[in-house]
Amino acid sequence: MGKIIAISSGKGGVGKTTVAANLSAALAQEGKRVLVVDTDIGLRNLDIVFGVQSVIVYDVTDVYENKIALLDACYHFPAYGDLYFLPASQAIDKEDIEEEKFYDMIKAAANQFDFVVLDCPAGIETGLKNAIRTADVAVTVVTPDMASLRDADRMLQVAEACNVKEIYVVINKFNRKLVRKKLMPNVDEILNRLGAPLLGIWCFEDRMVQFQNRGELIVTDSRRKCVKEIKNSAKRLMGEQVPIKIR
Ligand SMILES: Nc1ncnc2c1ncn2[C@@H]1O[C@H](COP(=O)(O)OP(=O)(O)OP(=O)(O)O)[C@@H](O)[C@H]1O
Ligand SMILES: [Mg+2]
Repeated sequence: MGKIIAISSGKGGVGKTTVAANLSAALAQEGKRVLVVDTDIGLRNLDIVFGVQSVIVYDVTDVYENKIALLDACYHFPAYGDLYFLPASQAIDKEDIEEEKFYDMIKAAANQFDFVVLDCPAGIETGLKNAIRTADVAVTVVTPDMASLRDADRMLQVAEACNVKEIYVVINKFNRKLVRKKLMPNVDEILNRLGAPLLGIWCFEDRMVQFQNRGELIVTDSRRKCVKEIKNSAKRLMGEQVPIKIR
């Protein structure tokens, strides 16, 4: 049975979709069979990040309604390895999702993959809860600012209430220069506040938006400074001991 990983945050815009896409591709590049599911029902974005927004036919609801088999509804990206993507529905709202059918679909998917990665919606309401209650692992994405940390705190309470077994933090859009000038909280301050172990520190990357607008994943370009840490985060998720450099 594969691991189900919910990429969540509480606060919007901190990088959940970015982390879900690049971490999934990095796991696939390591030889894992990976399904990434957009669970941001009604506000999907992962299709744009993968560059398939104009060709979407099937989505999550078609699969849990048994209109089509999971693999037939997914996009396969052989360029990244064994990586599959299932889009979210745009036609319904988060509140309208059939919770039990969605739960059963995600659990069944875990029988076919090494990792099922869920790109969760912002907030701590129904949409997040539906996703997180299926998860074995919650990866909480935070940016180094107080609003993100406070919302992540609330998100972690939801994960604990849903008995998620493992919880990690990805610090995204990190800027070492600003930390040195004490204009951003440092890594220790963030981790002490959240009380969860670190999966990775992903620096602010000027070209991130450019890559996403082109429908390309930054993890494919090893010249970009955040890529080594994205790959190391994937290795840590796979259980490898890769030290985190905190200068
Ligand atoms: N490490 C990074 N460096 C620079 N920009 C980033 C980084 N990570 C994400 N971004 C940018 O931040 C914006 C928000 O990212 P993303 O859509 O992944 O956030 P989100 O948490 O999924 O948002 P939402 O809550 O709306 O779903 C995007 O424009 C993305 O390109
Ligand atoms: Mg998103």
